[in-house]
Amino acid sequence: MTITLNINGEDREIDAAEGTPLLWVLRDHLKMTGTKFGCGVAQCGACTVHVDAVPTRSCVTPHDRLDGAAITTIEGASGPAADAVIAAWEASDVPQCGYCQSGQILAAVALLEETPVPTDDDIDAAMSGNLCRCATYMSIRRAIKDASTAL
Ligand code: FES
Ligand code: FES
Repeated sequence: MTITLNINGEDREIDAAEGTPLLWVLRDHLKMTGTKFGCGVAQCGACTVHVDAVPTRSCVTPHDRLDGAAITTIEGASGPAADAVIAAWEASDVPQCGYCQSGQILAAVALLEETPVPTDDDIDAAMSGNLCRCATYMSIRRAIKDASTAL
């Protein structure tokens, strides 16, 4: 079954098996490998993308339920919040191994698009589902606050 996904502003025709998770459409069909596979069961956040501006676990999201949706991946993250987050991430040297970071960044962008001046509780609520085995949590919190100030 062929569907259309708008990915990072570009309409793409997708012909993948029914039920194929969005993650594997991105990585295997479109060769967009910025979105990572971690747990595969919606528990780690590594696969986070935006679906119609909502942070979404692509590992458990069947692509064929998304016909016509707008998908943003780390490759296409842009706009004031994304620019501020990415600049703050670089300034704070947040990534260690980097594996979780595309998901972390997209979660942080969604937070700041919704709540430009987040409290610590807001940050906890938005980011608690994104795990980091390198424990960059304090750097992430600082970078989100720096990005909020820049915005
Ligand atoms: S790979 Fe999707 S939440 Fe872990
Ligand atoms: S930077 Fe290594 S898992 Fe997060």
